[in-house]
Amino acid sequence: MCGIIAYIGKHRAAPIIVEGLKRLEYRGYDSAGLAAQQNGRLVVIKKAGRVDRLAQEEAEHPLSATSGIGHTRWATHGAVTDANAHPHLSSDGKFALIHNGVIENYAQMKTFLLGKGFTFKSETDTEVLCNLIAYHYAKEDAAAGPSVRFLESVRKTLRHVEGTYGIAALCVEAPNEIVAARKASPLILGVGEAEYLIASDASALVGRTQNVVYLKDGEIVHLTPKAFTITTLDQADVSPVMDRITWSVADAELGTYEHFMEKEIFEQPLALENSMRGRFSEDGSTAQFGGLNLTAGDFAQVDRFMFCACGSAWHACLVAEHLIERFARLPVEVDYASEFRYRNSPLGRSTLFFVMSQSGETIDTLAALREAKRKGYRVLAINNSVGSTIARESDGGIFQHVGPEIGVASTKAFTSQLMIGAMVALYVARMRDMSFADGVQYVNALKGAPDLVRRVLAQAPHIRDIARRYAASSDFLFLGRLSLFPIALEGALKLKEISYIHAEGYPAAEMKHGPIALISEKCPSVVLAPKGELFNKIVSSIQELKARKGPIIAVTTEGSEIPAGLADAVISIPDCHEAVLPIVAAIPVQLLSYYIAVERGCDVDKPRNLAKSVTVE
Ligand code: F6R
Repeated sequence: MCGIIAYIGKHRAAPIIVEGLKRLEYRGYDSAGLAAQQNGRLVVIKKAGRVDRLAQEEAEHPLSATSGIGHTRWATHGAVTDANAHPHLSSDGKFALIHNGVIENYAQMKTFLLGKGFTFKSETDTEVLCNLIAYHYAKEDAAAGPSVRFLESVRKTLRHVEGTYGIAALCVEAPNEIVAARKASPLILGVGEAEYLIASDASALVGRTQNVVYLKDGEIVHLTPKAFTITTLDQADVSPVMDRITWSVADAELGTYEHFMEKEIFEQPLALENSMRGRFSEDGSTAQFGGLNLTAGDFAQVDRFMFCACGSAWHACLVAEHLIERFARLPVEVDYASEFRYRNSPLGRSTLFFVMSQSGETIDTLAALREAKRKGYRVLAINNSVGSTIARESDGGIFQHVGPEIGVASTKAFTSQLMIGAMVALYVARMRDMSFADGVQYVNALKGAPDLVRRVLAQAPHIRDIARRYAASSDFLFLGRLSLFPIALEGALKLKEISYIHAEGYPAAEMKHGPIALISEKCPSVVLAPKGELFNKIVSSIQELKARKGPIIAVTTEGSEIPAGLADAVISIPDCHEAVLPIVAAIPVQLLSYYIAVERGCDVDKPRNLAKSVTVE
């Protein structure tokens, strides 16, 4: 949710922090701020609104410090105001703090601190944490020196915290030092040339270093310009494990595109190739995965799959459910991660548990993973972020390898999740009833998917024209059946999140049981109507909508005949294998939503109230 960056080194910190915040802005964009030491005191510049406003302010009042902290906010506690923006100062002005997460017991702490004479300028839990650090600092033995007192006061504060945090702090008495820590909110240490950075996300680091240490829950890092140490809340030393970020600055930049969402939609053929690379058996009849950490024998014991995820990833799980049940003939259950964690659902001993998460940091998905592990299940993760908490805590899994997804609305990560779900279905099916010949056909179909996606992308100008015709609508229905029902859900989600149009996804035939009441000439329906055994039934649904004057945008297979006059606009998709169909059908709904949002003048990459990666419950 919020983005965090801290810098310590030999360069002026503020421009580096601002640059990092611009890259992190997709994590939260309600307000932005930075803090650094200037003339013996901590100076904070913070503003409600976008990072550009902060950049302007800093340019007018430049800070010379070579260390500092910065934050871009997605509001949890308190409205979007300058006062609630981070960093927060302790009431004695000795500490500045940035924070991503939620401190659940902040109210008790605040009452305690008010009783001790501390004052508050904001409604945030972060300011409470900052004052608690100041409280503990004052109680530390002065003879220990400011450096030790700083570190220990943060450590003591965090021992009292219930909730989640990724934090970075400055202390006026330890001028060239930073202390940072995490629990359930991501934090990465970047190790550069005579400089260190802390960030909530690798995208803020790639411009300066590829060398990173992924911090773990309960770890505290203490930075000076020359060295860093990592310890735990219990004061145990931690030996850092160095990793490398494999993608580059260009991956996190717009290039010639207008929006990241547009860039990522058009990157999908390549993203799909990357998700498949090296993952087919030599005989070309099945999938293979390096990181499952399960033997074929382990898989043979599995009699049920459980998938948990949120949002678009949950839709991808629904498609996986369809394909696994259809091709591998194994029962699959899909649950919202946020529900699963509280539902106490009976799983059965031979259930294999999967979580799906692009970011690998979604708190509900992480909690579902932990709940399943606590119950003794092995959990596999389908995930796009090497080093993320979910990647680390799962027992194995499959990385998506699609590079950073910056647009808040998921596109390339979603179709890559569809691809990996299709490969898992194949893998399990080939262990069971699927023949060699059917396996080869399936593999060839998956390998052909990027080209089919290219063909749909080539229709972008046509889809843009359709978007222009319907952009003024205030309601939309998205309808599909079988594996395209989740794509209808995804189309509705995409449209509502970036264009603020009310949209609902439904199984096409279910529409008669309520949603049809919405239909009028003002409520278009996007109907996913591929050729196949249910084609005529979907055409009947279209007839029913048309009889109520509902405009129809039909997405149908090239050569399929939607009766003349029934559809007001037609988008053709190539004929393809059932496992590839959801991927190919996802492209028109993504493009339609994107162009409608652009037409309505919406901020596509930073839709209101949203943030990439939901790290609070
Ligand atoms: C919608 C979207 C979200 C995410 C959801 C899960 O476009 O992006 O619904 O799919 O927040 O995120 P991850 O996959 O990071 O767990």
